[in-house]
Amino acid sequence: MSSRPQIRGATQEELEEVVRLNAEVFSEYQQRRKYFRLAISYDPYHRPEFNRIAIVDGKIVSNVRIVHRRMRIGSSLVLMGGIADVSTLVPYRRRGLATALLKDALNYMREHGYVVSLLFTGIAPFYRRLGWEIVLHNISISGDVLSLAKRLEDFMNSRNIPKYEIRKFEENDLESVARVYDEDNRSRTCTIERTLEYWRLRLKGSFELGFETPEGFLVALRDDFVVAYIRSKLDEHTCSILEACSLRGFEGAYVYLLRRLLKLCVERRIGSIRALLPEDHPMTWLLIELGAHLSKSRSGAMLKVVDQVSLFRALADELLARTRKSGIASQKKTLAIETDIGVCSLRISESEIEVLEEKAPSPDGVLKADQRVLAQLITGFRDVRTAVGYGDAIVHPHEAIKLFDALFPPGNPYFWSFDSF
Ligand SMILES: CC(C)(COP(=O)(O)OP(=O)(O)OC[C@H]1O[C@@H](n2cnc3c(N)ncnc32)[C@H](O)[C@@H]1OP(=O)(O)O)[C@@H](O)C(=O)NCCC(=O)NCCS
Repeated sequence: MSSRPQIRGATQEELEEVVRLNAEVFSEYQQRRKYFRLAISYDPYHRPEFNRIAIVDGKIVSNVRIVHRRMRIGSSLVLMGGIADVSTLVPYRRRGLATALLKDALNYMREHGYVVSLLFTGIAPFYRRLGWEIVLHNISISGDVLSLAKRLEDFMNSRNIPKYEIRKFEENDLESVARVYDEDNRSRTCTIERTLEYWRLRLKGSFELGFETPEGFLVALRDDFVVAYIRSKLDEHTCSILEACSLRGFEGAYVYLLRRLLKLCVERRIGSIRALLPEDHPMTWLLIELGAHLSKSRSGAMLKVVDQVSLFRALADELLARTRKSGIASQKKTLAIETDIGVCSLRISESEIEVLEEKAPSPDGVLKADQRVLAQLITGFRDVRTAVGYGDAIVHPHEAIKLFDALFPPGNPYFWSFDSF
């Protein structure tokens, strides 16, 4: 008979056992032990207590890891608790251990100021019942190297695109690359804040584990300054573009970066190219223009609101900017939002948005929805009209839809694979 499980944060001494547990559960993947060790040691924010563990009969049998990050929603950075390495040893499954650990992780996050939680999974229903919901699409743009290279030459010959110098990334480019990343992603929802320390550690891990190829990391320079870059993984048959960013006004650099990358592919006899980029990215546009094919599907990226009031407080500046843009800020409105995890009200004026922890008397509009729908609305994955139209949200009175539309405009949230956990 097994003893009652003990659920708590791990200690430094227990991390090796946690790594072994994960490597055993995810044994179908190569290099797993190394991956799990590096996932912890190459994360500058990791703390042993982020590994929430279940101990039965003196042994760690189940684990989930909280990943501490700051993530953008619009231009606001909010504290996000990622969930990774959800695993239970086979003999201990279906006893509610992973569920208990996820609930424990949510309590931990709530107590420590996290406002949302993001995870990546292939078993969405398991997490949906605990409140996570899909908020991102998988976008993949694919094409044939030789035909893209040919069309790119024609594209360049028919235009006068200012020239950029292209060369391989060098270690001392990192600060400039980080600046380009910050600038390009400054208002892209679901992108992660990257400090220099984070960049350094993760890049080392990414090269070491073969997630990307050093030769596939190229920078574009104008007057000796890095103004754009591209990162990729070159396999035997396929080149995967994993990230591309530029300073505003230097998007033409993508043409030269792509030309160099295609040349590299031809030299290595790589036949196909696949780009993982946001749908509205300038390079996506370029690849489609050159005949590449875009496919879009629901991803396994799921978000949950951890603390609704704190989330809206963290988003106040971003929401104010949105209401100003749409003109509703000048009208002084009060909107109430009611979900299964709480009620709050937003008092909107020209100069600020005040977040109240209750339903304000006679609001101008009320939105009622499950917090899973709210997670889709705040990321711009879904718009209010669609949610109302398909019966997933109620807005009262109906005319107030335009007010909520202003708060939650549709967007192109994106999560770069480099930040995966
Ligand atoms: C998924 C996993 C962590 C669940 O652990 P657990 O301790 O058995 O979880 P719980 O007992 O809390 O919950 C069990 C429920 O999970 C659900 N579940 C488990 N595996 C599932 C899967 N592959 N797809 C959908 N649901 C699944 C079952 O429906 C089960 O509910 P039921 O007992 O009512 O049928 C465990 O099966 C595991 O380690 N799997 C391999 C690693 C993995 O896939 N991790 C998730 C990565 S995102």
